[in-house]
Amino acid sequence: MGTREHEIYDIVGIGFGPSNLSLAIALEEHQANSSQQPVRAAFFERQPSFGWHRNMLLPQATMQISFLKDLATFRNPLSRYSFVSYLHASDRLVQFVNNQDFFPTRQEFHQYLEWAESGFRDRVTYNSEVTEIRVSDEGSGGEQLLEIVVRDTVGGGTRVVQARNVTVSTGLVPRMPDGMLRDERVWHSSEFLAKYGRMRPEDLKNVAVVGAGQSAAEITKYLHDKLPHAQVSAILPSYGYSVADDTPFANQVFDPTAVDHYYFGTENTRDAFWRYHKNTNYSVVDDDVIRELFRRSYEEEVAGEKRLHFLNLTRVKEVKRSGNDTRVVLHSLLDGESEQEMDVDALVFATGYSTMDATRLLGDLDRFCERDEEGRHRVERDYRVVTSGELSCGIYLQGGTEHTHGLTSSLLSNIAVRSGEIADSIVERRGAGQRV
Ligand code: FDA
Ligand code: NAP
Repeated sequence: MGTREHEIYDIVGIGFGPSNLSLAIALEEHQANSSQQPVRAAFFERQPSFGWHRNMLLPQATMQISFLKDLATFRNPLSRYSFVSYLHASDRLVQFVNNQDFFPTRQEFHQYLEWAESGFRDRVTYNSEVTEIRVSDEGSGGEQLLEIVVRDTVGGGTRVVQARNVTVSTGLVPRMPDGMLRDERVWHSSEFLAKYGRMRPEDLKNVAVVGAGQSAAEITKYLHDKLPHAQVSAILPSYGYSVADDTPFANQVFDPTAVDHYYFGTENTRDAFWRYHKNTNYSVVDDDVIRELFRRSYEEEVAGEKRLHFLNLTRVKEVKRSGNDTRVVLHSLLDGESEQEMDVDALVFATGYSTMDATRLLGDLDRFCERDEEGRHRVERDYRVVTSGELSCGIYLQGGTEHTHGLTSSLLSNIAVRSGEIADSIVERRGAGQRV
């Protein structure tokens, strides 16, 4: 795509995952119903092409939300970018209905996202990492603008783009336990398929997966499928996998109205959300995956050929690496004392993610951003960071707002509505001369 050199954008989106793709759709649909000047938007994505957690696109892994929680439907059920429109365009709508499943595979959802993204190639530039955002008062008539520094990840050069607003949508950050380093034999789940693909399956005779969340369970199952000759060990910090609660009452925590309840609630309200409903998403696994793993383990027990092992109440204390050798030191919480060593050919840390934190990207601009008593960004209901009066440009966050907007912040459930709210905010504030 060609971002124009001297163009001043109303909004520059950093990252082009589902959140900013959904925003691009919301802006386009706003435009279609408006006689106002178009909102000029540009998006920058560091990947070479669109990709949604590609290294976890495991066969048969399913979505954890209904197909109706797509990029647009909850905001605009008539959108041409809905999952249903995609099915229709792919000539699969009838068979999808016959399949009677609310939860498509992640691979099918990825195809849907790519299909939607293909409508926005003129607004997104790939191989483009945003490295810095700064403020300048040099717009025409002294208008304050943001300068977004974009690094070309292929050519290495940088350029600067000007905008009145940015939306930071850079996604979750892979988390390794303290002191553990990744390399060609020690992987985080976010790089799983790429690193697994570099190995020869016959060289993987002993593999282990750390963690008891959805990623860990899916990878354990995958390795057990793909490596029929291998010993596969699951290192669980818990006594066993716990189920993800997606029953109807609990699922309401992901409703658009729950954002208001969370945002306008008291500290006690917010605390109750986490205390009672963390198990809808964190460190939990879908029921069918849990049952499948247990069934396999039991079948092996019956056959007397055990190669799927569950080491419960166990944590990794140390990883010793030398050439192709990897020795894992395990600490058992069963007695709090015993240690065990295990040699593996590959070790996968499915130890989750940290939430998005825009601080580093904002750099010097962060001094305009207000923070709460715990040092977290203060954020308005429309996802705009609360800034001091000196900054009239807007910084919007899609992600990293768990403390203000609740459990959906890093998820897909609410992106259609959230991006609509951000689009409305940009349009309304522009109409008001961007005064805050
Ligand atoms: P996402 O991480 O998808 O996109 C951010 C983009 O920003 C990336 O493409 C990245 O390359 C880019 N980027 C980062 N820094 C940049 C920079 N400085 N410059 C330019 N680009 C930059 N949720 C749910 O509700 N249902 C589900 O089924 C799932 N399934 C799921 C599976 C797996 C394996 C994971 C790890 C997570 C999920 N999730 C989920 C949660 C997940 O956060 C969610 O699906 C989306 O990825 C959120 O979309 P975003 O666009 O916010 O982030
Ligand atoms: P997660 O739910 O945060 O689980 C991380 C696991 O690692 C937890 O069991 C955690 O235990 C454990 N862990 C963390 N640090 C550890 C340590 N030092 N030693 C041992 N264990 C440690 O992460 P995830 O499974 O990657 O899931 C992240 C998000 O992606 C979730 O929203 C999930 O639903 C989503 N996801 C979706 C799909 C899909 O759509 N099919 C697939 C994969 C993931 P503690 O509980 O003790 O911290």
